[in-house]
Amino acid sequence: MTDIREAAETAAEILLNGGYVERWVEGAIFPSEMAFFIAVCSVAGVDRVIESGRQDGYSTEILGDWASHNGRQIASVDLEHDAARAAACRQRLAHLPIQLVKGSAYEEFGRLVRDRAGRRLALIADGPKGWPAISMMAAGVDDRVEVVALHNLIPGSAVRELFERLGGPQTFYERALNDPGPRWQELRAREIAFAGGTAARSLELSSLGVLRLDDTNRSLFTNAWRTEFGLHQPAMVRALWQLGAYSAATKLYGLSYRLLRR
Ligand SMILES: C[S@@+](CC[C@H](N)C(=O)[O-])C[C@H]1O[C@@H](n2cnc3c(N)ncnc32)[C@H](O)[C@@H]1O
Repeated sequence: MTDIREAAETAAEILLNGGYVERWVEGAIFPSEMAFFIAVCSVAGVDRVIESGRQDGYSTEILGDWASHNGRQIASVDLEHDAARAAACRQRLAHLPIQLVKGSAYEEFGRLVRDRAGRRLALIADGPKGWPAISMMAAGVDDRVEVVALHNLIPGSAVRELFERLGGPQTFYERALNDPGPRWQELRAREIAFAGGTAARSLELSSLGVLRLDDTNRSLFTNAWRTEFGLHQPAMVRALWQLGAYSAATKLYGLSYRLLRR
């Protein structure tokens, strides 16, 4: 079985060879964060990734590139509120085998997880974020989901603390790769040289938490019940999806925000 160091070398190679470091744009997930995500997915044997939040398609193109080598499936959801931006994104991704979905992830994630495609799944959210993204993914986790990832986990935040508690320090690449190989080191050096001086987020500490699920943390994650979720408790969202009331799930998130600011 491939270990995470070896998988990170292969993933770094995809990013370096594809010229992704120099194509990174502000707001997108950093190259090393995406490389770590696909490395964890490779180790976990993931054959289908469901993403929410693609914007200009930076993270989505990397997922599609990785998937195209070995028949894995990628589905990506975005609101596509900006029609021109969405059209440019779709054109950028047209050469890749990606299922592009327009809509709210609060309902489309439910449809995609429940369509039974894929044997081993990974979920990644970069819009929505925070507690709404966590309850949405927790609602979608079943026995097939091996990896759950969320972006913008700011140091010191409660959402980051939850990820670290469930997944351990190896949820972030700094701790998972304490002796990285040469390709990973080159990837890091190149992204710091390219974006280090200009990026709004720090390149010192990663903010993509990548949680590898096992029987224990899967159960804790799916059954989470927290005041931070407000009305969108994972059990409620899952129940609506099970009833086929997908659009009601989006309304639940809206209502929770209006009534409780959560
Ligand atoms: C930061 S951008 C994503 C960047 C992308 N992951 C990358 O690395 O290139 C956030 C995106 O999330 C989308 N988004 C926010 N809330 C959403 C929701 N509830 N459902 C679907 N997409 C959502 C926005 O439309 C926006 O395009």
